[in-house]
Amino acid sequence: METIKIKPVRSLRGEIGVPGDKSISHRSVMVASIAEGRSIIKGFLSADDTQRTVKAFKSMGIKVEGFGTDKLIIEGKSLGGLKEPEDVLDLGNSGTSIRLLSGLLAGQRFFSVLTGDASLRKRPMSRVTAPLRQMGAEINGRDDGGFAPLAIKGRTLKPIEYESPVPSAQVKSSILLAGLYAEGETKVKEPGKSRDHTERMLKKFGAEIGEFNLSVSIKGRPILKAQEVEVPGDFSAAAFFLVAGVLVPDSEVYLKNVGINPTRTGLLDILKRMGVEVYLDNRREVGVEPVADIHVRTGRPKGIKISGEEVLRAIDELPILCIAASLAEGETVIREAKELRVKETDRISAMAEELRKMGVEIEEFPDGLMIKGRERLKGAVCNSHSDHRVAMAIAIAGLVADGETIIQDTSWISTSFPGFMEILDGLRHRGIKESKVQGLK
Ligand code: S3P
Repeated sequence: METIKIKPVRSLRGEIGVPGDKSISHRSVMVASIAEGRSIIKGFLSADDTQRTVKAFKSMGIKVEGFGTDKLIIEGKSLGGLKEPEDVLDLGNSGTSIRLLSGLLAGQRFFSVLTGDASLRKRPMSRVTAPLRQMGAEINGRDDGGFAPLAIKGRTLKPIEYESPVPSAQVKSSILLAGLYAEGETKVKEPGKSRDHTERMLKKFGAEIGEFNLSVSIKGRPILKAQEVEVPGDFSAAAFFLVAGVLVPDSEVYLKNVGINPTRTGLLDILKRMGVEVYLDNRREVGVEPVADIHVRTGRPKGIKISGEEVLRAIDELPILCIAASLAEGETVIREAKELRVKETDRISAMAEELRKMGVEIEEFPDGLMIKGRERLKGAVCNSHSDHRVAMAIAIAGLVADGETIIQDTSWISTSFPGFMEILDGLRHRGIKESKVQGLK
C-alpha cells in the first residue's frame, strides 16, 4: 500500500500548470473515435481513468497514437465504425467512462460488457440504464441493471424526451451519445445545469445540439468530422493548489491555463463569498472552452452556507473545500450535496472521518456537513478511502497541520493527477519545484 507523509510548510510561492481536464479528455477520445478522419488531441490527461477510455476504444478497433502521453492522434471510424470488443471492457475506477460508454454502445450493432473496480461496481447505474432502456436499449446488469458489470446488446434506438431526476453530466451525456444513434431528436432535461463539455465537444465535431434553459437536445445520425482539440488544464486539479495557496501562510500561487467553464467553477464563487482573494487573468477561449490563469494569495476564509447550484458547480471540489472550511473562521454548512455519497467513495463520511482525526469538529447530515473551523489542524494518520480526491485533499490539509500527516493508500491519486505527488513533494521541501515554476512578483 502506498503511503505519503506530509509536513507543514511555511509558504508557497510560484507558478504552476496542471494536467488536462479529465472530463474533456474522456469526451475527446469518445467523440474523435466515432468521427470521420484523424483527430489530434493536445493537452490530453494521461491518467488511469482516461487511459481506460482510450483502451476501450482501442479494443473496439480504433487506432490511437501517443498512448501514455498528452498528445493523441485518433483515427476515427465514423458513427458505425466501431467493432465488437473481444473481451470485457474494464473501466477501472472511472464513472465517466462506464456511464458515457453505456450510452454510446447502446446503439451499436454488437455486444459488449462493461465493468470496473470494486468502487465502480458499487456505484448506481440505473440512472443511465433506465433512460437508455426507454430508448430501446438492451442493457442488463446486477440488480436489474442497477450495477456493473453491464451487458449491452446493441439495438436500433428511438429518440426520447427524458427528465432526469438528478443533475448529472454523466447521465445527460450518456443519453446524448445514445441520441447520436437514434433517428430524430433526443432531449434531456435536468433539475440543475451540470457540466456541458459533451455538448461543446459534439458541436465542435459537427453535431446539431439545441440548448434551452435546463434542456439539451441532439439530432440523431449526424456526420461527425475529425478535429484538432486542445484540452485546457483541469480546474478540479487546480483546485487543490488554489486552496493550498489560500491556507498556507505567506503564499502566492499562480495557476496557468486552467479551464474556467462556468459549470465547473463554483469553488471560485464559494471562495470569494468566504472572503478570499482570487483573481482571473488572461481570460481566453481555447477551442470551445473558456480558460484563464488563476492567481490566489493567503487569506483566512470565513464560514458560510453552501447549497443548490453552487454545490453542483463545485461537486468535485467539495473534498478540498472541506479543508478550507476546517480552517475558516466560524462554521461552514454544506447541504444538498447527497450526490457526494455515490462518488468514488462516500465523500461525506470519508471527509468527516478523516478531518475528525485532524481535530476538526464536524456534524454529518444525509446531504452534507457542518464543519467548525479552527486555527490549525493536527497531524494524523489518515486514509484515502480509495478515492483520489480524498487523498489529495488530506495531503493539502497536511501542509497546514501541526506535526506529520500520514496518508495511507495514495496510489489512487493517479486516477486523475499522476503528477500531484511530485508537485506536493516540491512544495514540502522548497516551495513549488523550480523546474515547473518561475518566481511570482
Ligand atoms: C463528470 C461528471 C460529474 C463529476 C465526475 C465527472 C463527467 O459526475 O462528479 O467527476 O465527466 O461527466 P455526475 O455527472 O455523476 O455528477
